Amino acid sequence: MTDLHQQKILILDFGSQYTQLIARRVRELKVYCEIHPYNVPLERIRRLGPRGIILSGGPSSVYDDGAPRISPEVFELGVPVLGICYGLQLMAYLLGGEVVRSAQREYGSARVQVEGAVDDGSETLLHGFEKGTGHLVWMSHGDRVAKLPPGFQGIAGSKSSPVAAMASPERGLYAVQFHPEVSHTPRGSEILANFLFRICGCAPLWTMHSFVETETARLKALVGRERVITALSGGIDSAVVSVLLQRAIGEQLTCIFVDNGLLRAGEGEQVRRLFHERLGLDLHYVDGSEEFLSALKGVTDPEQKRRIIGKQFIELFEREAKGIGGVRYLAQGTLYPDVIESVSFKGPSATIKTHHNVGGLPERMHLELIEPLRELFKDEVREVARELGLPPELVGRQPFPGPGLAVRILGEITPEALAILREADAILDEEMRASGWYGRVWQSFAVLLPVRTVGVMGDERTYEQVAALRVVDSLDAMTADWTRLPHSLLAKVSNRIINEVKGINRVVFDISSKPPSTIEWE
Ligand code: XMP
Repeated sequence: MTDLHQQKILILDFGSQYTQLIARRVRELKVYCEIHPYNVPLERIRRLGPRGIILSGGPSSVYDDGAPRISPEVFELGVPVLGICYGLQLMAYLLGGEVVRSAQREYGSARVQVEGAVDDGSETLLHGFEKGTGHLVWMSHGDRVAKLPPGFQGIAGSKSSPVAAMASPERGLYAVQFHPEVSHTPRGSEILANFLFRICGCAPLWTMHSFVETETARLKALVGRERVITALSGGIDSAVVSVLLQRAIGEQLTCIFVDNGLLRAGEGEQVRRLFHERLGLDLHYVDGSEEFLSALKGVTDPEQKRRIIGKQFIELFEREAKGIGGVRYLAQGTLYPDVIESVSFKGPSATIKTHHNVGGLPERMHLELIEPLRELFKDEVREVARELGLPPELVGRQPFPGPGLAVRILGEITPEALAILREADAILDEEMRASGWYGRVWQSFAVLLPVRTVGVMGDERTYEQVAALRVVDSLDAMTADWTRLPHSLLAKVSNRIINEVKGINRVVFDISSKPPSTIEWE
């Protein structure tokens, strides 16, 4: 165990959609935390030796059949516990209080009043919160506490939740009915900070600066004199993995970039320039465009496209890696959300994205895996990237799918279709950047539709294809909404595409949200 992990907070997950958000807030406060399923054995909790435990919210009622429960011994470990929403109800229920069904679910903003005397726990968990004012919080619960468990005091209340927060300070037990982790609770981070620093006695040790130092040393010791390969995708995760390893082991690292012929305009060249020329990585650039495009010839089904691209990638990567020879490790950019075994995220394998997982390659090639980012959230990876001096255009880059333009050309992928889409996409990209909108949206791209429509150009009738523009706002790609771009910007992009791109005579703007639509069209 390194210094970085010495003080950790354990978050027990009861299935709330906000569990990861709790973890991100704790990390923002520079304290390391891990999410575990609620039923992690007590012995394991002891071994992990947390400074504090947070019980997440969850969709259940404590009275449901099969409601997730924990052993009451968790409250006797001598480790402070903070219950949030369902966590509060469970604490009350297990420790002898009374939980009742509310007449109706309370969902939305509420105001809570801080109550009680100075020494009853409100000074610690709600330190800094004035009495006599209503503090804005976010509620989302069906049950509420009707009677406090013995030894507890109410420390905050609202109109519909008389016990909006409770505490048993001598035992280090605290709980809130509302959600301090969401942005709708404006001062929620202060409550979490009170728990971490005043109650658990943590120090802000978890910084990306210390992560880089610690991880570099760990990688160096782990790899020794062996050789490591990574697959660069052009995205931030694989870039950070590569640069971290370069710091740790220098020339023992080789990066492989497979150009699948489905990249955007100029992208291959940008990768070469950045990683090879600017960052000095040992880059093996594999031009696989011909192989990919011939394997995709005549294919129109989206899933089949993905399968073919995945298979081609593995073949090319394997061939290249064998050529390098003497390789023991494969490093990849798996992130924390991919590995959390929790209730709301059903096991690690279901959430691993294709581009993180070079499809069974480690087993096939007898390579051992290194995953330097498996403890980090995406926003932490961005911070590491800045820490490592990676350029802002990489740190702020929008996500791009592994199968590239193949899933943005509906129907068959041909060299002509690729050329048309690249041009249209480059115009949208250029205008998004010029207007300052690029960094404000999750993704912005063009899609080429396999339909032709009639138009007029000068005196001539045209019969050409349609481009759709997809621009979305999102926090994590799980849900998304179309961005309300200014009409003037849309007009400019549309005019430019129709005038400049031969083969497109109509532009439409996609106004679907996810769900029920998806971000990509295929
Ligand atoms: P959807 O279309 O499912 O996309 O709403 C969610 C996010 O994932 C990206 N995406 C992919 N990434 N391989 C990838 O590496 C894929 O096959 C793939 N499909 C979608 C998409 O760009 C969006 O950010």
